[in-house]
Amino acid sequence: MEILSVRNLGKIYKGMVSYEALSNIDLSINQGEFVGIMGPSGSGKTTLLNMISTIDKPTSGEIHIAGEDPYTLSQNKLAMFRRRELGFVFQSFNLLNTLTVKENILLPLTLDGVGIKEMNARVEALADKLGITSILDKRTYEISGGQAQRTAIARALIHEPKLLLADEPTGNLDSKSARDVMEILEKRNREDQSTMLLVTHDPVAASYCSRVIFIKDGQLYNEIYYGDNRASFYQKIINVLSLLGGNGHEFPSVRI
Ligand SMILES: Nc1ncnc2c1ncn2[C@@H]1O[C@H](COP(=O)(O)OP(=O)(O)OP(=O)(O)O)[C@@H](O)[C@H]1O
Ligand SMILES: [Mg+2]
Repeated sequence: MEILSVRNLGKIYKGMVSYEALSNIDLSINQGEFVGIMGPSGSGKTTLLNMISTIDKPTSGEIHIAGEDPYTLSQNKLAMFRRRELGFVFQSFNLLNTLTVKENILLPLTLDGVGIKEMNARVEALADKLGITSILDKRTYEISGGQAQRTAIARALIHEPKLLLADEPTGNLDSKSARDVMEILEKRNREDQSTMLLVTHDPVAASYCSRVIFIKDGQLYNEIYYGDNRASFYQKIINVLSLLGGNGHEFPSVRI
């Protein structure tokens, strides 16, 4: 089943000088896929994600998420659509530091008026899967970056969104925590068939995806699929990145 359909999408930023950040983007993501978006700085990755997130309006083309065109919805319906159908994970975690880990995770359900018993059952099950049971009652300033990102992932998944969107989710983490976070996303994708789309600069992070799409100068450049194993997928990702203009030597030849 198709969860995301992007057709002939274009974005022009209008200003003193107008700038075409994206053109002719066609993209389709099925239920259960884990898709990475890569490309040089300024290639349009965040622009694309913002339009899929319904944060910013496309100049041309269409987006359908779970069969719905969010840009035809009224302001109120759009807010509800975002809250119910989408999950967001950011580089900077965006947790509320006056709340505990548990309260942060429950926030989307609180807004939707879910009962206490149901909320507790869901948070406990998810915390267990993400390895954050022991920190549920801590405040956000008492936890590590990796734990904060796992908390943010729990918050994004608690209402079982149709599509999880992440912009550089490992961008603020050391390499060990980054791997932990990617392993957790990959596992949730594999076990729950949750559909995920993530933007990343990091070829190691991208190697956890099932497909990686490359964009260059606002246009689709290439896409590659996970093959036999992660080490060879990582190598394929590095190869495309070198072709894209980045220098292959920038990337660590780590064992993965
Ligand atoms: N609000 C805006 N107004 C005008 N131009 C913008 C705006 N936002 C982004 N751009 C331009 O559009 C292009 C794409 O930007 P975008 O942020 O999507 O790139 P990116 O691929 O996410 O880059 P990075 O890897 O550095 O995050 C860039 O040239 C940028 O300068
Ligand atoms: Mg960006």
